Amino acid sequence: MISEKIADAINKQINEEMYSFYLYAAMSAHFEHNNLKGFAKWMRVQSDEELLHARKFVDYMHARGGRVLYSKIAAPRLEWDSVLETMTDAYNHECHISQCINELSTLAIQEKDHATHGMLEWFVSEQVEEEANADGIVQQLKMIEGAPSAMFMLDRELAKRTLAPDAGGAA
Ligand SMILES: [Fe+2]
Ligand SMILES: [Fe+2]
Repeated sequence: MISEKIADAINKQINEEMYSFYLYAAMSAHFEHNNLKGFAKWMRVQSDEELLHARKFVDYMHARGGRVLYSKIAAPRLEWDSVLETMTDAYNHECHISQCINELSTLAIQEKDHATHGMLEWFVSEQVEEEANADGIVQQLKMIEGAPSAMFMLDRELAKRTLAPDAGGAA
């Protein structure tokens, strides 16, 4: 059985993952609206991943006898001035999520909840990738400085992203 303190913290994290889904869905819609179909696709896959993250926490709560309590999801930002600004926002958001996962992990240690701490290890590694992926695109955007032909190529490249079979940590 999971402690109330840990269950509360996981419910908060479920909301964070749902908000991540919502934020990336908004970014995807923004890109779509600006005819950047590759960026839109990349962000749609990113938002799909966030739903899987939320669900992973939900399944874990059920396995431990915790009560899943969904709460209101904040409205995301809807407009950005540039692709670089959007992707920088995405990178900063991933850094925020890494911080949340770290705090949750610290709480699990304090509460001597080894099962939760073990479950969180997957998320700790996932966050390393999440930050690196977003930062990689930010760095590429800085390099090409909005040059239309390079943007066109990057958009085509990002369109190739598909949801990895192990995106939810099932594999
Ligand atoms: Fe996530
Ligand atoms: Fe993420």
